[in-house]
Amino acid sequence: MGLDSSKRVAVEDLTQLCVEVFTRVGMSPADARTVAAGLVTTDTWGTFSHGTNLLPHYVTSIRAGGIDAGAQPEVVVEGPSWAILDGHAAMGMVSGCRAMDLAISKARTTTLSWVGVCNSNHFGAAGYYAVLATHHEMIGVALSNVDPNMAVPGARGSVIGNNPLAYAVPHRADFPVFLDIATSAVAASKIMTSKSLGQDLPGDYLADSEGLPTRKIGTWPVGSSLMPMAGHKGYGLAFLIEVLAAALTGAGMLSTARSWILSPHEQGKLGHCFLVFNIGNMMPIELFKQRMSELGREIHEAAKARGSDRIYLPGEMECERRAEALRNGIEFPEWVKAGLRGVARNFQIAPCPGLE
Ligand SMILES: NC(=O)c1ccc[n+]([C@@H]2O[C@H](COP(=O)([O-])OP(=O)(O)OC[C@H]3O[C@@H](n4cnc5c(N)ncnc54)[C@H](O)[C@@H]3O)[C@@H](O)[C@H]2O)c1
Repeated sequence: MGLDSSKRVAVEDLTQLCVEVFTRVGMSPADARTVAAGLVTTDTWGTFSHGTNLLPHYVTSIRAGGIDAGAQPEVVVEGPSWAILDGHAAMGMVSGCRAMDLAISKARTTTLSWVGVCNSNHFGAAGYYAVLATHHEMIGVALSNVDPNMAVPGARGSVIGNNPLAYAVPHRADFPVFLDIATSAVAASKIMTSKSLGQDLPGDYLADSEGLPTRKIGTWPVGSSLMPMAGHKGYGLAFLIEVLAAALTGAGMLSTARSWILSPHEQGKLGHCFLVFNIGNMMPIELFKQRMSELGREIHEAAKARGSDRIYLPGEMECERRAEALRNGIEFPEWVKAGLRGVARNFQIAPCPGLE
């Protein structure tokens, strides 16, 4: 079947729509471009749950006062290889990009760096920040805490967030290896999709009001909680992220972090942190990339499971989707298009081609 470009949205058009909306709600043009780049890149990966689908929610939270569109993050304490920024309730992507840029610049001389952020808000896909480090031939790690939405073994109710974790490693110019995940069994957006389709879950992805595993969505997010990825292992990782991104930065921890969706008028008080490894200070970057190629080749060439004809490296599917989206535009599911049309209507902006 041929490609129907009229159903696709060009990356430049979508970026322009985001910039227009964010500047109208009080963001500087530079910050609006920063946020737009993050959301649109996430869409090109096919991670639609954390791309421009979030635009209406960000607008709601900015208008309600939870996010301060004009705020500028500020370094409050730092050493040669580390720093902590106060986000002052700015958009999470503004603080996140500022912090990752600082971590990259510190790692140029110190080789390893860590930059944390407190008083922040939802920062979208963790992978976006980790991949930024690979543009400088460095390894990046991005972590964030979120408000409690996940059960922990032995408890009833939501105790900790499904704190996202991402790493990215330079490999080929068009393909950093990267993993970008929530620490819950499945991300909340996937439960939301099953809920809107009126389906039960294919696995025990929720804990019910008694703290017991269930496939029934019921009244979630009220009355049930996400299950951690791989039980105590996902819980243990989420705990580490709570320590590095919140305890160590001064951000809100556990129940003092607020939900930007359920309470858009409240500041999230979230914490993030970013770690960078400057490979070139440790070994020649070309040697490292050659070793990455060897690593990737052995995995790609491993014996395939019955019915499988291909093994992917982490991030490979996203990079292939991105290359396609940059060539031909993004093919959105209807539920994302409907939200974007709504925002365009709200701001009396003509929807870009492909959204109608
Ligand atoms: N900001 C927040 O509050 C927050 C909270 C939770 C999650 N998130 C974001 O949600 C998004 C989705 O998270 P998720 O847990 O649903 O991710 P997911 O389960 O869809 O996993 C995606 C990751 O797994 C890799 N992957 C998938 N299949 C693979 C395969 N067969 N072989 C190799 N690698 C494979 C992908 O390349 C990607 O890195 C992420 O962007 C995450 O950062 C954000």
